[in-house]
Amino acid sequence: MRPDPKTGDPKAGDPILALRDVSVRLGGRKGFLQRTLLPVQAVKQVSLDLRGGEILSLVGESGCGKTTLGRTILGLQRESEGEILLEGRRVSGLAPEAARRARNIVQYSHQDAGAALDPWWSIGRTLEEGLKIHGVRNVSERRDRVAAMLQAVGLDPTSARRYPHEFSGGQLRRLALARILLLRPRVLILDEPTSGLDMSVQATVLNLLLELRERFSLTYLFISHDLSVVERLSDRVAIMYLGRIVELGTAKTVFAHPTHPYTRTLLAAAPRLTGRRAAGPSLVRGDPPNPRLVVPGCSFFDRCPMARPACQEATPQLQTVATGQDVACLRADVVAQQGPILEQTASIGAKRRA
Ligand SMILES: Nc1ncnc2c1ncn2[C@@H]1O[C@H](COP(=O)(O)OP(=O)(O)OP(=O)(O)O)[C@@H](O)[C@H]1O
Ligand code: SF4
Ligand SMILES: [Mg+2]
Repeated sequence: MRPDPKTGDPKAGDPILALRDVSVRLGGRKGFLQRTLLPVQAVKQVSLDLRGGEILSLVGESGCGKTTLGRTILGLQRESEGEILLEGRRVSGLAPEAARRARNIVQYSHQDAGAALDPWWSIGRTLEEGLKIHGVRNVSERRDRVAAMLQAVGLDPTSARRYPHEFSGGQLRRLALARILLLRPRVLILDEPTSGLDMSVQATVLNLLLELRERFSLTYLFISHDLSVVERLSDRVAIMYLGRIVELGTAKTVFAHPTHPYTRTLLAAAPRLTGRRAAGPSLVRGDPPNPRLVVPGCSFFDRCPMARPACQEATPQLQTVATGQDVACLRADVVAQQGPILEQTASIGAKRRA
């Protein structure tokens, strides 16, 4: 963690990971009967800084581009525009081998923990294989490192002799974490690390993530749908809608003063740790527009209770609002004056499409 030279704030130093106007297009090929499919604009002009030691959560409904953004940071998906910097060094456009080496500091924890483990290999063999690929030739060093890492994630070192089907969902998460931590990353992209786990197991996995962050000086990009977890864990939160970041700020500010209409409708329906709101169905009604279509103006227009005809004329850009976070809404100042919960009423946007 590098403290900011001006303020001394340990979380405000140079970014370990920086995205500059990153856009990602997927697909765009011939489909069934040679019909040309338009590409999906999965990520649109995303700029984000991840500072050493922080937990930045990426939140948004299914299909908004969270995994695509994570895969792009890892180099599994190529950005169509913009650039990615790791520790200040541009990795976009590097030759494949140089890019792979530069990206070693980032590891990805898959949405499906079991998918990261070979069902036919013992845990020890899978974990050692990663070390072998990364040049650790000495067998006893590999075994010692695997045993120590199993302990670090709260598992018995004898787990190395067992196979993936012998572990519970929570234990598989621990094993998946052990596999990537052996590679000594600095940044982890955690894609839905607690999905599919029951509440008590979720809590132990989250506590483990916090412990591991301290112990190994890690920085997390935390992808989640679960707002109560996001509120508890994050330093900062980025809200994503249809490929764009629409609100970005400290978790404290975004949860206390949600300003983008999309954030407000998401938070209004979410269960809260503090118990200030009850659980309920999402107030964000309807489906997001087709991601293959490029519509003019604000992409939340069709579902927004605050929409006005002018919102179709320009694409809102992130602007800092009075409470301190960045918000991409042309009517952010009006929305900020609303009560804490935005009731979803038929929007002008919805009428436009009707
Ligand atoms: N290989 C692909 N080809 C074309 N479109 C794709 C491809 N992979 C994903 N998409 C589309 O890109 C968009 C973003 O998908 P992505 O998986 O990044 O969403 P997500 O936010 O991670 O969703 P979830 O919360 O369900 O995991 C979606 O519209 C999805 O259908
Ligand atoms: S720009 Fe208009 S349509 Fe978009 S979120 Fe703001 S108020 Fe709603
Ligand atoms: Mg995903």
